[in-house]
Amino acid sequence: MLKAVLFDLDGVITDTAEYHYMAWKQLASEIHIEIDREFNEMLKGVSRMESLERILRHGQRERDFTPEEKQELATKKNKQYVQLLEQVTPSDVYPGIRELLLELKTSGIHAVIASASKNAPQILRSLQLTDLFDYIVDPDEVAQGKPAPDIFLRGAEAVGATAEECIGIEDAQAGIEAIKSAQMIAVGIGDEALLMASGADVVLPTTEKLSLPFLKSLIC
Ligand code: BG6
Ligand code: MG
Repeated sequence: MLKAVLFDLDGVITDTAEYHYMAWKQLASEIHIEIDREFNEMLKGVSRMESLERILRHGQRERDFTPEEKQELATKKNKQYVQLLEQVTPSDVYPGIRELLLELKTSGIHAVIASASKNAPQILRSLQLTDLFDYIVDPDEVAQGKPAPDIFLRGAEAVGATAEECIGIEDAQAGIEAIKSAQMIAVGIGDEALLMASGADVVLPTTEKLSLPFLKSLIC
């Protein structure tokens, strides 16, 4: 029986995955590294510092910066990202998401945010969605980031659900891998080939067709 739905945030609840890409692209170009959308798929779902490490390795510059300088680069990217977040309003919630959250609340099924982002609480406030979630996992609460299962397992535990009673929703390859390694049903949003290759049980092109009856049909 379905007891909890665990949502990724960036790229599932709203389009902030695009803002992450814009902010990383700008920072990377300032240090003479070019990144494109294909490479960006490897950054989705991954923590801020690990994203920076991947960009530096991509540009073969991983040895060029001290830990303090890397921290400064990550802070600079986040400042740019937070500036982009100023334009987020409740109208930016992806189609079907608010309706699904209301259906979950009415049915007593827990809704949880399992995002790697430290900016998640602020984004949820800007979208006026905070009250529709029962728990927001703080990424600092868990030992390992996605693709490790930790954040999804912690979210399930926080609302008293077992893995078999949970569905995870993700737009990132690392996120789908994390859900599957937590032994939950994984719903992908976005590129079908990419997300099926990571182990998604089902992939929808957008959030529009997400509904409680659809989710219930995936779990006995
Ligand atoms: C994830 C995003 O949700 O959060 C990643 O998919 C991002 O792109 C990560 O790096 C960390 O986000 P933040 O907001 O803490 O820098
Ligand atoms: Mg995402």
